[in-house]
Amino acid sequence: MANPSILILAGDGIGPEVMTEVKKVINWFGAKRDVAFDVSEDLVGGAAYDVHGVPLSDATMAKAQEVDAVLLGAVGGPKYDVLDFSVKPERGLLRLRKEMDLYSNLRPAQCFDALADFSSLKKDVVAGLDIMIVRELTSGIYFGEPRGIITENNERVGINTQRYTESEIERVARSAFELARRRGNKVCSMEKANVMESGILWREVVQRVHDEDYADVELSHMYADAGAMQLCRWPKQFDVIVTDNLFGDLLSDAAAMLTGSLGMLPSASLGAPMANGRPKAMYEPVHGSAPDIAGQGKANPIACILSFSMALRYSFDLGAEADRLEAAVEKVLADGVRTADLLGPEGGSPVSTAEMGDAIIAALDAAL
Ligand code: NAI
Ligand code: MG
Repeated sequence: MANPSILILAGDGIGPEVMTEVKKVINWFGAKRDVAFDVSEDLVGGAAYDVHGVPLSDATMAKAQEVDAVLLGAVGGPKYDVLDFSVKPERGLLRLRKEMDLYSNLRPAQCFDALADFSSLKKDVVAGLDIMIVRELTSGIYFGEPRGIITENNERVGINTQRYTESEIERVARSAFELARRRGNKVCSMEKANVMESGILWREVVQRVHDEDYADVELSHMYADAGAMQLCRWPKQFDVIVTDNLFGDLLSDAAAMLTGSLGMLPSASLGAPMANGRPKAMYEPVHGSAPDIAGQGKANPIACILSFSMALRYSFDLGAEADRLEAAVEKVLADGVRTADLLGPEGGSPVSTAEMGDAIIAALDAAL
């Protein structure tokens, strides 16, 4: 059987720099663990615009639809700020998400013990934290009609519409329950059923999907505002949180910051299962192209490396290999290896992007 396939879209700014380290990791798994992938590479964002005049060519889009997983670096940069909205680098990313129909956005908030001091919260509140926010990504208020700015009674009115169909709620709920079964087997669904009809339907559908097919998973419901408070108060009470596009946007950003640097945060966006049973999938760090540090070897590659780890876990059913990779990251951090973004106010001497990658490879080797 052919190896599973990965399409690498490194993009702009620090994207190619952090992706170079991910490629070291991919090669390591091929050489040392006999976990081989067919890796191809292509352009996205400003890099694609420079060559094709569009931030994602049709040929690249077609390739992304065929592979088992897309691994994306970052797009954008000041050079492209002058471009028309329709060809901005970010549009390449949106096209991928939209045409692959990646409706389930997974954002882990995981605290490595060595970085627990980095959090704005008390150490015992975040040490060992490992939660996952599942955000509905392709519907809800960011897409609902009617929308726009109209004039009514001589003043302007801004309109957006929160709209969810049962099937849209059902598919993201399934994704959250499936995920919970591979983790702590607990889902908390968040909406505002007290004041929003879409929230009432959300709660009803999530409960039905649970009762029909996932009764083994522990399910609770919480109003999203109360959820925000609980996330700050005692985040370890959660395992998987499933919520809509708008609340998920806010809650995932808040949860992410419980744990420290942008340079540490991976993400996955999953869609419907393909013919081979794997979900359509794209993995990418949460951070952008960081033009302020691009080209200087300062970028932290861990967010992108952990995104590959999510691919091992959620696309390729290689949870044990993902654990191995995450343990290597944990070991390197525990040893005090730090890129510049991971140094506190007291400073210290940072390693480069490549040195961080090499340290992770060395830790992988040492644990064999
Ligand atoms: P950013 O995430 O690129 O940078 C924010 C800050 O965090 C910067 O100070 C940067 O140096 C730092 N940072 C980010 N990633 C880091 C890493 N791996 N290691 C060390 N430090 C890191 O967000 P910003 O500055 O708002 O946007 C810059 C460009 O990136 C813009 O063109 C924006 O549109 C684009 N962008 C792209 C995203 C994507 O491709 N998914 C997401 C967010 C922004
Ligand atoms: Mg956001």
